[in-house]
Amino acid sequence: MCGIVGYVGKRQAVPLLLEGLRRLEYRGYDSAGLAVQNGCGVEVLKLAGRVRALIREARKTAVDGTCGIAHTRWATHGAPTSPNAHPHTDCSGTIALVHNGIIENADALRARLKQGGHHFKTQTDTEVLAHLIEEVSSGSLEQRVISALGRVEGAYGIAVISQDDPGKIVVARKGSPVLLGVGNGEFFVASDAAAVLEHTRSVVYLDDGDVAVLTTDSYRVIDASAREQLRSVADIDWDLGAIELGGYPHFMLKEICEQPDSIRSTLRGRLLFEQGDARLHGLNLSPRDCENIRRIVVLACGTSWHAGLVGRYAVEELAGIPVDVEYASEYRYRPQLAIRGTLAIAISQSGETADTLEAMSAARAAGGKVLGLVNVVGSTIARQADGGLYLHAGPEIGVASTKAFTSQIVALVLLGLHLGRQRGLSLAQGRELVYELARLPEQVDQVLDLEPVIEKLAREYAHADNFLYLGRGVNFPVALEGALKLKEISYIHAEGYPAAEMKHGPIALIDENMPVVFVAPEDQLYHKVLSNMQEVKARGGRIIALTTEGAGDLGALADHEIQVPKTVPLLSPVVTSIPLQVLAYHIAVLRGCDVDRPRNLAKSVTVE
Ligand code: AGP
Repeated sequence: MCGIVGYVGKRQAVPLLLEGLRRLEYRGYDSAGLAVQNGCGVEVLKLAGRVRALIREARKTAVDGTCGIAHTRWATHGAPTSPNAHPHTDCSGTIALVHNGIIENADALRARLKQGGHHFKTQTDTEVLAHLIEEVSSGSLEQRVISALGRVEGAYGIAVISQDDPGKIVVARKGSPVLLGVGNGEFFVASDAAAVLEHTRSVVYLDDGDVAVLTTDSYRVIDASAREQLRSVADIDWDLGAIELGGYPHFMLKEICEQPDSIRSTLRGRLLFEQGDARLHGLNLSPRDCENIRRIVVLACGTSWHAGLVGRYAVEELAGIPVDVEYASEYRYRPQLAIRGTLAIAISQSGETADTLEAMSAARAAGGKVLGLVNVVGSTIARQADGGLYLHAGPEIGVASTKAFTSQIVALVLLGLHLGRQRGLSLAQGRELVYELARLPEQVDQVLDLEPVIEKLAREYAHADNFLYLGRGVNFPVALEGALKLKEISYIHAEGYPAAEMKHGPIALIDENMPVVFVAPEDQLYHKVLSNMQEVKARGGRIIALTTEGAGDLGALADHEIQVPKTVPLLSPVVTSIPLQVLAYHIAVLRGCDVDRPRNLAKSVTVE
């Protein structure tokens, strides 16, 4: 997902813009640029490549000015080249603009603008916006922007400056997040709070349809009819340390190691030991609402979808409510059956995933209440949901999701516990689960002590071309997640399968070159998984077995055995998924991959 930064105030803009871009780098980008009002016009610097290349360029060509915008781009339309980098300008270079999102009618608009004499410098949809604004010949910059956006179909978060409007930035939002940072006599624009946190904790989250006008001494938010919109100022509750490496080589390793604390944060204030329940006020569900739920449909993508699959076991077992876990991108195109008593739950770390947002709209159109299980406070999904749970896992910077995944599982177990206790789950069962949840952080601490063993294992398998991950029951989603972690950061092909399903085809893949990871904690399916291991062993497969302490030595059956602390089956995915995160991390490092910014990936996929 692209990153937007803007500044207007009394300080030089370029250093602030570059620092902001640097803090957004984790979101995925392939080019970067900035534009500053330098007193006699708008000066643009942009290039393909990392932000540090832009920093070097900015040092060579000193650009002075106290009002500017900047952007890191993750290419959707047009190759990642310098010309296609943002900002984009109009014909005369008077207007400069940065954009997140996709303009769906860009081709038609471009054709009409070309007929009107406009000349284009790039292949991007964004450049069309600059010419649309140019075409509106009169009015304030905000009036021109509003008029131009009236012709646009698609999603956008934009920031615009013009040499005719010194000391002013106009911002608009529709479907792509943008916030304002309110400083002391200065104002910021950003697509993510990380870009402004060094300067202010006070932010204003814009809603779809908002237009904001920032000047050197004030800001205001208006709608398309220029009516003032009251938007509250929120305080960011995490600190810069959370988005700094803190001595770790990569954010991913830092976030893997943060999991004891991130799980503590997810649990904080929510465990009711006496009542054997969970305090989940944000759900906005009365006891009666909980009783009337007939069906739950989970909407998510990627790792969040895997967490939803784990959550299905928890909610069905604890609350007796049937759960469908849907790929958000598929769900939104299916016929929406208005089934009474349906509760939709959108799961998302970023809270900005376009497919999940669209699926929420589809679920709401079918008449259901929609909850959000989200990590980023103030994100679009969080604000559009009827209620929900924040994960409180802290910013997740690494593109590969790790601590958010385990916090999503914990949050879903808390939800299952709470719903269950409203629907007949016994006090004793509730108390047992609360106790096991409270123990989880220190068990995760023990799992992290396994890192050296896993790193050694990574050396043996870093050159494999394929991996198979197998699990049963609540650990089948862990097999899927382990495979996703490996493929998205090491680029090794990996598949997750239900262990029993292997004999219906995938077993043909088994030979001495195929490492097979079995996620096999000691639970009611453990002995079934052992027989699957024997099937693999008999065909020369190399087995990495993830079992639980006390499960007994697998002997010659497994080539490698990793034992994790024993917990109740519903929580076992938390302790079994972490060794797979660590394995994927070390294999990727050994293969020289960019662990925090894997190729082709972005931290938040805000395009469909
Ligand atoms: C996970 O490692 C991936 N980066 C990706 O699958 C991610 O989980 C997915 O894009 C959903 O993102 P969200 O949780 O922010 O909605």
